[in-house]
Amino acid sequence: MSDKAVYPVPESWAKNALIDAATYEERYRNSVEDPESFWATEARRIDWIKPFSTVKNTSFAADDFRIKWFEDGTLNLSANCLDRHLADKGDDIAILWEPDDPENEARSYTYRELHEETCRFANVLKAHGAKKGDRVTIYLPMIPEAAIAMLACARIGAVHSIVFAGFSPEALGGRIDDCTSDLVITSDEGLRGGKHIPLKANVDEALEHHAKDVSTVIVVRHTGADIAMKEGRDVWWHEAMKGQEPECEPEEMNAEDPLFILYTSGSTGKPKGVLHTTGGYAVWTSMTHEYTFDYRRGEVYWCAADIGWVTGHSYVVYGPLANGAITLMFEGVPNYPDFSRFWQIVDKYQVAQFYAAPTALRALMREGDDWVTRTSRKSLKVLGSVGEPINPEAWEWYYKVVGDSRCPIVDTWWQTETGGHMITPLPGATALKPGSASMPMFGVQPAIVDNDGKVQHGATEGPLVITDSWPGQMRTVYGDHERFIQTYFSTFPGNYFTGDGARRDEDGYYWITGRIDDVINVSGHRMGTAEIESALVLHEKVAEAAVVGMPHEIKGQGIYAYVTTTAGTEDSDELRAELIKWVRREIGPIATPDVLQFAPSLPKTRSGKIMRRILRKIAENDTSNLGDTSTLADPGVVDDLIANSPQTN
Ligand code: PRX
Repeated sequence: MSDKAVYPVPESWAKNALIDAATYEERYRNSVEDPESFWATEARRIDWIKPFSTVKNTSFAADDFRIKWFEDGTLNLSANCLDRHLADKGDDIAILWEPDDPENEARSYTYRELHEETCRFANVLKAHGAKKGDRVTIYLPMIPEAAIAMLACARIGAVHSIVFAGFSPEALGGRIDDCTSDLVITSDEGLRGGKHIPLKANVDEALEHHAKDVSTVIVVRHTGADIAMKEGRDVWWHEAMKGQEPECEPEEMNAEDPLFILYTSGSTGKPKGVLHTTGGYAVWTSMTHEYTFDYRRGEVYWCAADIGWVTGHSYVVYGPLANGAITLMFEGVPNYPDFSRFWQIVDKYQVAQFYAAPTALRALMREGDDWVTRTSRKSLKVLGSVGEPINPEAWEWYYKVVGDSRCPIVDTWWQTETGGHMITPLPGATALKPGSASMPMFGVQPAIVDNDGKVQHGATEGPLVITDSWPGQMRTVYGDHERFIQTYFSTFPGNYFTGDGARRDEDGYYWITGRIDDVINVSGHRMGTAEIESALVLHEKVAEAAVVGMPHEIKGQGIYAYVTTTAGTEDSDELRAELIKWVRREIGPIATPDVLQFAPSLPKTRSGKIMRRILRKIAENDTSNLGDTSTLADPGVVDDLIANSPQTN
């Protein structure tokens, strides 16, 4: 095999795995040659109220576009995550919750308890007028109530829209407006690394300028902070729950009824509401959770992602709970109270599968091995990576130091849009190459195309597309189906375009090379450069802004902003600090520019188009070969930018 280090599947794994190499080959072939039979079988992992009679009704062709899976089947995903486990797993743990501060009390819920709480809260939602099809916004920290709120929405057929609790009031307000939700669920505060985050105050601020339709705000008392409650609008979760019945009949949902909306950044415009539906998503998340992590009953599984991102939706809540798993939720951060925190939690709960983003691993790696090696980690069986490319150095550290060279690493490539894992090793089936997401999941048909969309064979590199539908695929952009088609199916007609580039080696392994559009990936969080630019130009002293990614040792990519100020404005350090603060306020701390360079002018073509390629090169400190600059209106601009860039000096 090519591409340096290869870790073969250990003998013990090959013998006992849910999916070994031969099974993978056979089932993968079946999944693409006969999707009808493959998915009819896999879909049995879900309890259907009314069984489906058709499996796949999909086409990516422009004149015949449709994506429907199991379309005449009905089900309820909350019932699949709860009710059906009660008979034989009612007393099994469903959720283990570890607080930010290890001195605070941990909590846990059995499936029976989670079912009761979910039913009670579903009744609360109903009492406040929420019904099937209504949008409910959730702005909560990593506490069990977040999962309960999601499951309660799914139970009554309301469509949840979770907004990451790190987003600003402005960003929250925009998302509430876009999906016109009139009910918001939040908590008094969030707690991360000992820092208090004023979530309820953020909601209040968002509702001052936006979302005039919001009639109800349900507030979880979490830290006990003193907060303002608005008469007639705000209600305490614990008070609303009082006297509610612990039973609530699950709504019968069609397979293609919406389950949730999740906003994500693209290369243009405002974040878009990615809409997932019920049946296909249920099958996809359940199947991928089981196979990718080789999950077995009784194992403690921990995905360290926040429920504000798709990873939290699919792999903290829906996938694991549909499988009757024990899912661990952690409120805090990897470095509080100290750098051993993750591994102490692994030991405390005897975690078998651990799933996190490379950015956290790189940050911990920098602190030295001792924080890891002083803990046992004997319980670990599979390690997962998600959200961004993992560099081979971090991979090796994860494998050798965290996993004691014992645990396969599943480097899972996927997206908010894909609902679940698309390209990933399976621990008992795939020899590992550090840095490669390796092989496609069942039913996934990746292809690498040339710039004209022609599929390339063999070892090659280029834009990554998926040629046929899979059950977990997003179905539309909420409220803008045209944008859905335009964004994903127009670049390479007939294919889903991922926005990523990839390389395929001689062994057929995929290596994701990163985004090839104007999206950057900061600490595993996806940011649209256009979004940050829009935020900057809202400032009265900014005439123009261009944002690109730059290499960052810990975050993977950092944010580099070039800003042209308005005539007469003096470019000062104070203004720089003010603009950085401004972006944090407009979007949230995750959008904080790492570098903000004042640029008297930006490199433009004669037709006025900013040449972002050149800005990227400067941000990467790779100015030896800037490519063709002959079309620049004023080539002198580039020298000036290079002379004043902190990257190149
Ligand atoms: O560029 C890819 C990167 O993250 C993008 C998707 O981001 P988001 O929708 O926020 O979903 C993150 C959680 C799945 C992709 O287009 N990405 C995600 N996983 C990987 C990755 N890049 C390389 N390797 C991965 N394992």
